[in-house]
Amino acid sequence: MAILKPVRITTTTPIEELRGLKTPVRIFLKRDDLNGLLISGNKARKLEYLIADMKRKKCDTIITCGPVQSNHCRTTAVFAQQCGFECHLLLRVRKKPCKIYTGNLLLDILLGAKITYITPEQYQRRLAVMAQYARILRKKGRKPYSIPEGGSNEIGSLGYLDCMREMADFIKRQRIDAVYCAVGSGGTYAGLLLGKKLCRLAVHLHGIIICDTVEYFEEKISKICTDAIHTFNFPINVARKDIHLVDGYVGDGYGIPYPEALKTIKCVAKLGIILEPVYTGKAFYGMLNHVKENRYKKVIFIHTGGIFSIFAFNKVITDTLR
Ligand SMILES: Cc1ncc(COP(=O)(O)O)c(C=O)c1O
Repeated sequence: MAILKPVRITTTTPIEELRGLKTPVRIFLKRDDLNGLLISGNKARKLEYLIADMKRKKCDTIITCGPVQSNHCRTTAVFAQQCGFECHLLLRVRKKPCKIYTGNLLLDILLGAKITYITPEQYQRRLAVMAQYARILRKKGRKPYSIPEGGSNEIGSLGYLDCMREMADFIKRQRIDAVYCAVGSGGTYAGLLLGKKLCRLAVHLHGIIICDTVEYFEEKISKICTDAIHTFNFPINVARKDIHLVDGYVGDGYGIPYPEALKTIKCVAKLGIILEPVYTGKAFYGMLNHVKENRYKKVIFIHTGGIFSIFAFNKVITDTLR
């Protein structure tokens, strides 16, 4: 299949040096958190390709899923609203959702997305649940397009292939040792890896996992890369040994903050950069330790956004600030 032409909504993002941290490594940020206001963060690059595919297939309704504070779901709701599609979000909640909407959920609802809450048990079999949901919509005459968790498949990964291409000259010119990103559903890392291979970059690529296990993500990232290579005829191979994931920063689980990550958020915020407790706070903290172990001199951290979720964590962040 020929590469799709993305539906461009994002603006180009700069690479900026983060100055003021007491660390021997020079840290550059790829500011994907600055790609737009409501679409801020990594999901938009993936959605630009997924929506192009959806248009090609002449669908009119998006179905996707994620945790209740999903950045991906919020960004999907924005794309749907801008493109005139109906948007159905299946959101995982542990208990009943709060009576007061906050963070990404507040935006989902303001943007007119149709919300269905699902249990963790249903989320385990989310593909089947989404397929069932799609059948119901089809019976109502809609043409649904299902987007997997995090927009992470071979089509979504093209967005981060582009991101690596954008950074390629900078990486070579500045002799960057390593690029880091958070790994939550694998698509960002997979796209960056495809880009690294296609641009023949020698840079190390490390993903800090913030949920599940290294084995789970090696399998998932490997599949996304293989699917992309086959679908788009990329002249490269990706093997398991090309995937470098860093473990030890999940803490007690997905979306459960811990003190070191919260302190990192507080520290980095003083330099004008907002990280959050689910992805970027944990990943940045993990990167600071990992660069020391590897004695890297210059690295890039992909700022994958997520700013709206800090409002859903206001209590724990307030406690850290006090
Ligand atoms: C803010 C943020 N950073 C990083 C990630 C991880 O990206 P990916 O799902 O592509 O692994 C996500 C989503 O999961 C996210 O919302």
